[in-house]
Amino acid sequence: MTSDSPRPRRLPEFSHPHPQAPAAGIVAEPTARPEALAADAVVMFLTEGGVGSGVAGELDRATAGLISRLAAAGEISGKRFECVPLLAVPGLAAGQLLIVGLGKREEVDCGVLYRAAATASRHLAGRPRARVVFAADGWWSTAQVEQAVAGAAVGMVGQDLYRAEPRRTRFGTTIWTGASAQAVQAGATISAGVNLARRLVNTPPDDLYPQSFAEEAAAVAVRTGMEIEIWDEERLLRERCQAILAVGRGSSRPPRLVILRYHGPARTASASPRTDVPDLALVGKGVTFDSGGLSLKPSDSMLTMKCDMAGGAAVLAATATIAALELPVHVVAAIGLVENMTGPAAYKLGDVITARSGTTIEVHNTDAEGRIVLADVLDVVRELQPRRLVDAATLTGACMVALGHDVAGLFSNDQPWCDRVAAAARAVGEPVWQLPMYAEYDEHIKSEVADIKNVGDGRWGGAITAAKFLQRFVGAIPWTHVDIAGPAFAEKSLPWTDGGGTGAMVRPFVELARGLE
Ligand code: BES
Ligand code: MN
Ligand code: ZN
Repeated sequence: MTSDSPRPRRLPEFSHPHPQAPAAGIVAEPTARPEALAADAVVMFLTEGGVGSGVAGELDRATAGLISRLAAAGEISGKRFECVPLLAVPGLAAGQLLIVGLGKREEVDCGVLYRAAATASRHLAGRPRARVVFAADGWWSTAQVEQAVAGAAVGMVGQDLYRAEPRRTRFGTTIWTGASAQAVQAGATISAGVNLARRLVNTPPDDLYPQSFAEEAAAVAVRTGMEIEIWDEERLLRERCQAILAVGRGSSRPPRLVILRYHGPARTASASPRTDVPDLALVGKGVTFDSGGLSLKPSDSMLTMKCDMAGGAAVLAATATIAALELPVHVVAAIGLVENMTGPAAYKLGDVITARSGTTIEVHNTDAEGRIVLADVLDVVRELQPRRLVDAATLTGACMVALGHDVAGLFSNDQPWCDRVAAAARAVGEPVWQLPMYAEYDEHIKSEVADIKNVGDGRWGGAITAAKFLQRFVGAIPWTHVDIAGPAFAEKSLPWTDGGGTGAMVRPFVELARGLE
């Protein structure tokens, strides 16, 4: 592997030799009383409809009824993601009390808590804070505590990779009261995965290209105890990965295929010896920059195309998190890394590519490159015969036309497996919606000269015809494709996150692997 030493970066996530290390700086004080802790701030969560019992009630008593008076006066509503800072509160050892709204109590779930905690952190991280206390409530489930902890650790990280003066500063120490040490540890580890994916997406394409992404993956693999293989262009040629090579030919940055393996501990002491059949395969689209190739994108659409490796980033980050959590599963992950450019050797319209599987692909549009790359990645993974397969890709603008910015599209050849992927995503608060895969759509990718072409007839149903293309390469393995073109990247800042990479599908994939335990 060559190393063209990219510029030094800030301390990355999973940056310590010990897998537990990502949680450093985030600690549980299960029985401490938030009002008694000396800190810069205490974060309290409030539902609509008043103070009631629980943490809000206790802090109300500790502050001689301040919170219920402000609620009665309408100054604090508990509406979702409302943030009200109260400074120098009598009865509180901390410098301020930040009250964050959760909305209606019966509608609070993991996703609401993740975003509410992130909103509070993002607010407080606007200036340096040595110690911040978050008070978990007794009625939260363990899963909800974990996601709140994760959200708090994601919200304090901004888009500051290239700014002399950061707009957000991570808290020195985060203290969670009312939460178990295990839940805090797990939430902190999950946040390290989300922040890793976000950092990779936010890194500009001249710093993150196939080789440097592969080097990042190698470093993460060492820190989290995963096995890694990196296929360079020679290996890709020997492996007949002509589809990956074709897309990469227009760039001065050669393509790479990253394969990660994680063998968790046996599920029970008497379990059968470790088999080489992966329980789960994760596949990611890693187009480190998508200019569109000769079917060049207009400038405005190209601007954010550093995000086109978000599927690959999610797969790397989720697998690293699964390894750091030491989940008892066997996972294989594969990420196809290319830069889609217009150099003199670029692949052309009308070219016919023989993919690794032998299927021939007529190129009608070089901007439909992700599916071509994934054709070979899926074939490599299919050969390993995993029990189930899921891929994440910023595959189509059409999926955003269908579902908008916030919802990922699901496509599958196996309804029970699709249902499990959807359940995992919803369990952690990431919205997904399944689109149909009727056989009729197969007609749309028929070619006059090759087995298939890389676009549908016209633009209608473009997210589905792209999924139909992928389906040609997964064989009989239960497979679900997740199109994250919308949710992977926030063009504007939101209350809970600075604009940029969101880490979409990291938490769902971790949840999915947990469900296989
Ligand atoms: N990377 C894009 C899809 C995309 C668009 C992701 C917007 C994130 C935000 C993909 O490679 C692409 O260009 N798809 C084309 C396909 C078309 C040429 C059939 C598209 O969606 O326009
Ligand atoms: Mn494209
Ligand atoms: Zn693309």
